[in-house]
Amino acid sequence: HKDRELRVHENLDELSTDLADYIAELSEASVKERGVFAIALSGGSLISLMGKLCEAPYNKTVDWIKWYIFWADERVVAKNHADSNYKLAKDSLFSKVPVVPSHVHSINDSVSAEEAADEYEFVIRQLVKSRVISVSDTSDCPKFDLIVLGMGSDGHVASLFPNHSVLEETDEWVTFITDSPKPPPERITFTLPVINSASNVVLVVTGDSKADAVHLALDDAGTDCPLVPARMVQPTIGKLMWFLDKPAASKLDAS
Ligand code: 6PG
Repeated sequence: HKDRELRVHENLDELSTDLADYIAELSEASVKERGVFAIALSGGSLISLMGKLCEAPYNKTVDWIKWYIFWADERVVAKNHADSNYKLAKDSLFSKVPVVPSHVHSINDSVSAEEAADEYEFVIRQLVKSRVISVSDTSDCPKFDLIVLGMGSDGHVASLFPNHSVLEETDEWVTFITDSPKPPPERITFTLPVINSASNVVLVVTGDSKADAVHLALDDAGTDCPLVPARMVQPTIGKLMWFLDKPAASKLDAS
C-alpha cells in the first residue's frame, strides 16, 4: 500500500492529541501552499475527537479564516435537528473558533435528498472552478485537502454502506440514498471517486465494536471475505492515515 499509515493509540486522549496535531499540520501546509484549506467532515465520534483543535495551542496556530468546510456525508434533516452532522460540527467545533460563516458549506435542508445532492455537487463544481477546491491530477474530480471519515461497525464510511449500489457510482461527485440501514434513511454522500481523489484522507476508528470491520478493511482478505466500504478507500495519489485505538486494532493480523 503506497501511501497508507496506521497509528494505534493507547487511549482516546492520546489519539485526539495526535489527530489535532495532524490536522493542524495539514491545515498549515495547505494554507502555505494554496492560501486555503478545503476540508470535508463526516458525523459520529470523530467530531468530538477533533475537539482539541479548538483549544490551545491549536486554536491559536490554525488559520481558521482560511478553512472552507464541507460534509462528506450529511443526513437530510433540518440544520438544527439532533441528527444533523452540520449541527454536531457547529456545536462541538465551529461555534468555538473564528471560521467564516460563508465558508461553511452545509447542505440545503429544505429540499429533497436528490435535490440537496445535486445542489451540493453544483456548489463544489463552482468552488473547483475558482480553485478554492483543487482539481485532481488524474481526473476532473475535486481534490479536497482533507476528508475526515469515521467507520461504522458494518464497515461503512460517509454514507456508503455495504452492498449498496452507490459504491459503484463513478459519474456523480455527490449522490443521495433514501434507504440507509442506519437511521435517518435519507442522506447525501460523497462518492468513492471524490473520496479517493483527496490529497489526504483520515479514518478515525475507535472501540471494540469496530475491530472486525478494521480487520476486513486492512488485512489481506481472502476472496470470500465480505468487501467492506472502508477497504475501498484508497486514495489514487493522496495519503491515507488511519487513527485507531487499541480495541479497534485488536483483531488486526499483526496485533
Ligand atoms: C453516519 C456518519 C458516519 C460515521 C460512522 C462512525 O451518519 O453514519 O456520518 O459516517 O462517521 O458511522 O461513527 P462513530 O464513530 O460515531 O461510530
